[in-house]
Amino acid sequence: MGRKKIGLIGGGQIGGNLALLAMQKNLGDVVLYDIPAAEGLVKGKALDMNQLAAVDGYDCRITGSTDPKDLAGSDVIIITAGVPRKPGMSREDLLDINLKIMKDVAANVKQHAPRAFVINIANPLDAMVYAFHKITGFSKNMVCGMAGVLDTARFKFFVAEAVGCSIRDVEALVLGGHGDDMVPLLRQASVGGVPLTKLLPKDKLDAIVDRTRKGGGELVALYKTGSAYFAPAAAAIAMAESYLLDRKRVLPVAAMLEGEYGINGYFFGVPATIGAGGVEKVHVIDLDENEQQMLNKSFESVKKTVSEVKL
Ligand code: APR
Repeated sequence: MGRKKIGLIGGGQIGGNLALLAMQKNLGDVVLYDIPAAEGLVKGKALDMNQLAAVDGYDCRITGSTDPKDLAGSDVIIITAGVPRKPGMSREDLLDINLKIMKDVAANVKQHAPRAFVINIANPLDAMVYAFHKITGFSKNMVCGMAGVLDTARFKFFVAEAVGCSIRDVEALVLGGHGDDMVPLLRQASVGGVPLTKLLPKDKLDAIVDRTRKGGGELVALYKTGSAYFAPAAAAIAMAESYLLDRKRVLPVAAMLEGEYGINGYFFGVPATIGAGGVEKVHVIDLDENEQQMLNKSFESVKKTVSEVKL
């Protein structure tokens, strides 16, 4: 039984951090794949991280590559190929340029890694994972998008800061599309079992919801040359780990819906069990009228962007 193999498509900011985390968690050998123009970047990152492995004693190896054949046999593929946002841009502004890249990526994955569990990170998230799924025809349980784990992490961090509590005790969930009308659920959030709505006044809760929704933009404005990369990488690795180790974690992911939440034929952020079968089960939770309205609004935005996906 050999080591597992993780193919990372895109060796930029998030790709590099994905490789490092995969190695540090001993998830498997990593291929950091990028276009020929980035050959030095991925070969350099791989060499650098393999030397780091000698410091800390990791057995997994990282290979930098510009040959898609090196992705063959990947158990997991994580896609970050694409252009990140610059200040003032919405994720939807990336559609045209990132869709072209996704067409190339999807063809490569279909040809070289048809049995992989695929996690997309490229934006606009829900439309890109939709395009990938359409192009490859992979089964719906083997394709998903990473957004909810990241959005929920942002939500939890802001809650922990406002309450002044350990982040470990914050339970929270963000549903919906990966856009500014995502749905952080206040009613279901809690700290050590205590409802969040009992711990913070309404104005503070509203501010947390607003900051969560614009969490990606806040980082784009700070970085100026790109978007977040540490937390997005950690979020996708949590999903990959749950698949590879059959942990069956229930995580918010962009999953293909077939009637759940009244949505059919779209990828959308919902809680799902991730295990050896990929996206094994989508969980439907009860929403009140206000939450359902927010979810509908988020879905309308996703639907609009997806309608612009021309394959
Ligand atoms: N195949 C493989 N890699 C590609 C391709 C392609 N066809 N086209 C571009 N790339 C590579 C680029 O060469 C670059 O190294 O994708 C990498 C993207 O890295 P960064 O520009 O550093 O972007 P990053 O911050 O990692 O974000 C990537 O994730 O969160 C989203 O909005 C973000 O869509 C963006 C993506």
